[in-house]
Amino acid sequence: MSQLARFGKLYLFQSLDSTNDEARRLAVRGEPAVIVAESQTQGRGRLGRSWSSVPGGLYFSMLLFPGPQWSSLKNPVIALLAGVACARTIEAKAGLKPEIAWPNDVLIGDRKVAGILCEGKGRAVIVGCGVNLNQEGFPPDLPEAVSLKQATGRDLEPYGFLSFFLDEFTHLYESTDTGDARAVIGIVKPYLRMLNQRVRAELGFLGLGYRQVQGTAVDLDAFGRLVVRDDKDRLIALNAATVRRIR
Ligand code: BTN
Repeated sequence: MSQLARFGKLYLFQSLDSTNDEARRLAVRGEPAVIVAESQTQGRGRLGRSWSSVPGGLYFSMLLFPGPQWSSLKNPVIALLAGVACARTIEAKAGLKPEIAWPNDVLIGDRKVAGILCEGKGRAVIVGCGVNLNQEGFPPDLPEAVSLKQATGRDLEPYGFLSFFLDEFTHLYESTDTGDARAVIGIVKPYLRMLNQRVRAELGFLGLGYRQVQGTAVDLDAFGRLVVRDDKDRLIALNAATVRRIR
């Protein structure tokens, strides 16, 4: 895995609380790294959710130190790149055609196969990726989840997957290293099959309750936000949400 050298050290754990939390602890060293765990006891997802992290899945975090050319909006933009790297790895390793449900849920059909949690700590950006690789099934409270094994009928080798992902991500990250979000938007859009489709966005708890927006996804703006035209013809740029196509 020569390309891992670009990420500094590779840390492998049988079990961790969360690879993102380990990356936070390592961030003080100021060195890029990749942290992998075979399982997590406190795997975290976006919007305060937990992430099922039993053995069989792939759980890793990249600890990055983007240069000053990246704007203050770097986290969502880097997370978009990680989603594309994940989708391309699934295409190459599993022969499937995934789509990205904005911002970076990776879906096979209607089912979620991978998710990305991007967090900041000082200068560091931590990109945590959870991939449902070889799980045989999921509990009933995760009806949307699917593994690549369930989708293809075969086991995937975790380190082959990780190695390909890191190559792909490095390529994308280096080719957009000007921090220009517009270049990234052009790369992401082909995977966003929800563009020009009817969508439902769950915005999470916003003080007054859960807010939902329904309408047509019309664009990805220069900041990586999804622009939805709602049913009252208003344009709304989403910063964070869970968005699904209405089929
Ligand atoms: C989501 O879709 O909500 C994002 C899920 C991110 C899960 C990964 S698993 C590796 C890393 N460590 C964590 O605790 N979370 C991320």
